[in-house]
Amino acid sequence: MSVNMKSYVDHKNGILDRRIFWDDDIYQLELKNIFARCWNFVAHESQVKSFGDFITTYIGEDAVIVARAKDGSINVMLNSCPHRGNKVCFAGEGKIRSFVCNYHGWAFGLDGKLNGMPANELYDDTEGFSKEDWGLHKARVETYKGLVFATFDEEAPSLADYLGDFRWYLDAILDIDDQGTEFLPGTTRSLLTCNWKYPADNFVGDIYHAMWTHLSAAEATLKETGGIIVTNKNSYQTSVNGHGWEFSLANNFGNAVTMGEKEIVKYLRSREEKISQRLGEVRSKLLGSVASGLIFPNLAFLPGYLTFRTFLPKGPTETELHCWTLVPSEASDEIKEKWRIGAMRTFSPSGILEMDDGENWEHATIGNAGYVTRNQKLCYAMDPTKNQKVDIDLPGTVTKGQLNDANQRLFFKRYAEFMDAESWADIPLATKTFE
Ligand code: FES
Ligand SMILES: [Fe+2]
Repeated sequence: MSVNMKSYVDHKNGILDRRIFWDDDIYQLELKNIFARCWNFVAHESQVKSFGDFITTYIGEDAVIVARAKDGSINVMLNSCPHRGNKVCFAGEGKIRSFVCNYHGWAFGLDGKLNGMPANELYDDTEGFSKEDWGLHKARVETYKGLVFATFDEEAPSLADYLGDFRWYLDAILDIDDQGTEFLPGTTRSLLTCNWKYPADNFVGDIYHAMWTHLSAAEATLKETGGIIVTNKNSYQTSVNGHGWEFSLANNFGNAVTMGEKEIVKYLRSREEKISQRLGEVRSKLLGSVASGLIFPNLAFLPGYLTFRTFLPKGPTETELHCWTLVPSEASDEIKEKWRIGAMRTFSPSGILEMDDGENWEHATIGNAGYVTRNQKLCYAMDPTKNQKVDIDLPGTVTKGQLNDANQRLFFKRYAEFMDAESWADIPLATKTFE
């Protein structure tokens, strides 16, 4: 199938065709032109720390294993046996020496190589058969400061080029000291009846919803402030290659406060000066502030809570959420524990804020498929600072004020670029301003 996605996505005027949220032909093209092409987040290095550690996840709908091999390399390979196609690993995570397929017993190493099979001699006498040809299909793997990404596209640019200057912002979470970061143990998984792009566009630039969707929860948890205060004063949206971050520089700890763990706010405050010396004043305000971000296409994060999550597509109207909590490695066990509880209280399947969101995305998805409804457009036009000069010099496409639809329009612009491209050669990349 080929579509002219630009006819569905009018990013300039902020008008979207609802079809992109439920149509199966479009969804199948997304699996090919987005997920099989992009650098997809698959793990944090701390989840596969040593030889034998593995976790399983998905790139698009392709099941993959992420495993640390004996030589220290991290390998990402299809979780599908090349013999008859059975899954070779059914666990979510663990430690193992080899993956042995349930069906006929082919055994694969942590590097994906086919090491052996029952009744080996049957193959010794098979002309032209070579074990080297029949390992698990592998993806390219690169890391950025603890985050592991993989792509199945040989033509994809380097991860550094893919992230571009968005790395400058990511460092405000990933590079605040020499010790780096880690994920707390465990993954929460939940299934939503929504299109994967709803959560993606929500995190890339939609703080607008927080004032309404989360108002009641915010009042209940933060009674002294009476809810979430978000303004376009001293706040911004920034976008690079479809990745986006909307943030306030006015309240350094706004997100962190809503976790209800005073010790975390104290901890963040105690780190601020050192982070400012390392990364400059602007970035020292990003770790806990009222903000959200997304690495295109489907890895989102929230400063403060430090929840990281992927929106794994399971068809046009289903999405599996995998979530983790990231912490600075140098933090004490006590602080890490408070982070775990604070993140679970707010942004977990039963979290007081997360539950608000899922329902909206589900009803938006289901509603769009109605026969008459599908022919109506969606409004992404909010642009209240259009004629105002951006008063700050930051990398990327910067828009003044976090309350606008700018990043969401740029996300869908990027989406359309991928969907309409024949190959990576047709996909533009923003020039990097540093290495
Ligand atoms: S399908 Fe895996 S060994 Fe046959
Ligand atoms: Fe939300």
